Amino acid sequence: MNIVILAAGMGKRMRSALPKVLHSLAGKPLLAHVIDTARTLSPTRLVVVVGHGADKVREAVGAPDVQFALQDRQLGTGHAVQQALPLLDPSVPTLVLYGDVPLTRASTLKRLIDAAGAERYGVLTVSVSDPAGYGRIVRDAAGKVKKIVEQKDASEEERRIAEINTGIVITPTRTLETWLASLKNNNAQGEFYLTDVVERAIDAGVEVVTAQPDAEWETLGVNSKIQLAELERIHQRNVAHALLDAGVTLMDPARIDVRGTLECGADVSIDVNCVFEGRVTLADNVTIGPNCVIRDAVIGAGTRVDAYTHIEGGTTGANVVLGPYARLRPGAKLADEAHVGNFVEVKNAVLGHGSKANHLSYIGDSDIGARVNIGAGTITCNYDGANKHRTVIEDDVFVGSDTQLVAPVRVGRGVTIAAGTTVWKDVGVDELVLNEKTQVSKTGYKRPVKKKS
Ligand code: UD1
Ligand code: CA
Repeated sequence: MNIVILAAGMGKRMRSALPKVLHSLAGKPLLAHVIDTARTLSPTRLVVVVGHGADKVREAVGAPDVQFALQDRQLGTGHAVQQALPLLDPSVPTLVLYGDVPLTRASTLKRLIDAAGAERYGVLTVSVSDPAGYGRIVRDAAGKVKKIVEQKDASEEERRIAEINTGIVITPTRTLETWLASLKNNNAQGEFYLTDVVERAIDAGVEVVTAQPDAEWETLGVNSKIQLAELERIHQRNVAHALLDAGVTLMDPARIDVRGTLECGADVSIDVNCVFEGRVTLADNVTIGPNCVIRDAVIGAGTRVDAYTHIEGGTTGANVVLGPYARLRPGAKLADEAHVGNFVEVKNAVLGHGSKANHLSYIGDSDIGARVNIGAGTITCNYDGANKHRTVIEDDVFVGSDTQLVAPVRVGRGVTIAAGTTVWKDVGVDELVLNEKTQVSKTGYKRPVKKKS
């Protein structure tokens, strides 16, 4: 099967410089949703018809299995498909999809494909309570499809038809060239309508069949920011329901956003207002507090992520405690039972088994062993203004509060660092390290007082 995706339109009503099909739904361009669904059907050819913003569209979704056909001027849906013809395999049928209809399920498309087989012309239709604006499916007394008439060309009677053309069709390809070449644009919009091909097929003795989607939202398109927002909510509701079905506890299924993939083990619980991006995996018994943003992360079993934690890449072992207000950046690796608390940032660093950094610290480019206690206000000074360097802290080290570790530096096993120490030289095993400072106290000191005006 060939698949042609129409994506040449401008999308004026989006009121945006970005081509319509590149607007994001669940963190991914509308067109990328359609391409991903198309791929699940293993097409022999996958052609995207581009026009408005063609270069941007090519750049955004270009891939070895995607070919592009350019439609310079948007003369109608029939004209758009015509531009793709030279790239199609004439021996197999062609399925036409729309770059701005992102939520059609593969199962629905398969139903249409199966109904049409290799010989028939298939139209995906749906009966709606408000058909205004859509092409109507006109049937004869026997119920056979006669034609599709656009809203603007329809008679009063035809406008009362509730069954509409979703736009998604499948057609034999060999005959398509002649059918498209014979289209006329003598209609209300002066366009070459793909919908008129139905009549060409009937004239040629080709049977026209219809199939229906499981849900009406599968056929909804995006023409405005309002429709985009509506489809985003439909998609997020579907994702939330799938998570609930899989046994995940969501404190409020209306307040979770998944912009990528979220895999959950057993007995995972997610509080309100969390955003998941990229690929996120939560193992069994993970608890996510409210208002967390979690991207590209693997969270180990029994780990608790408290409120307002922000993860942008990182992995944790089992029974870790994160947050509230913790931040993990790419390359953060927390071993089992580690604790990373409020206002602690961990980047490109390993925290060993049971190690704790509970308050106000920056741990960057570091290898930290097991059972290390990092006091409040500890900073790894990993950047010398030109290059990054590593800090190594071996097992069982106690880092006093307000310590700076000037990398590259190595602190041996069992070391104790006194509070307020700047460590710029390596420290041997089991040593105590401190900077000599004196505490001076003066008696009878009078603090300045504000002058009276
Ligand atoms: C089309 C159908 C209509 C159907 C509706 C479903 C036709 C003539 N009408 O109407 O029966 O009910 O979709 O939403 O097909 N496009 C191009 N090049 C063009 C014209 C359009 O690539 O020259 C693309 C658009 O970017 C869009 C899609 O095709 O993604 C549909 O075009 P649009 O003009 O919105 O068609 P409708 O008038 O909605
Ligand atoms: Ca449309």
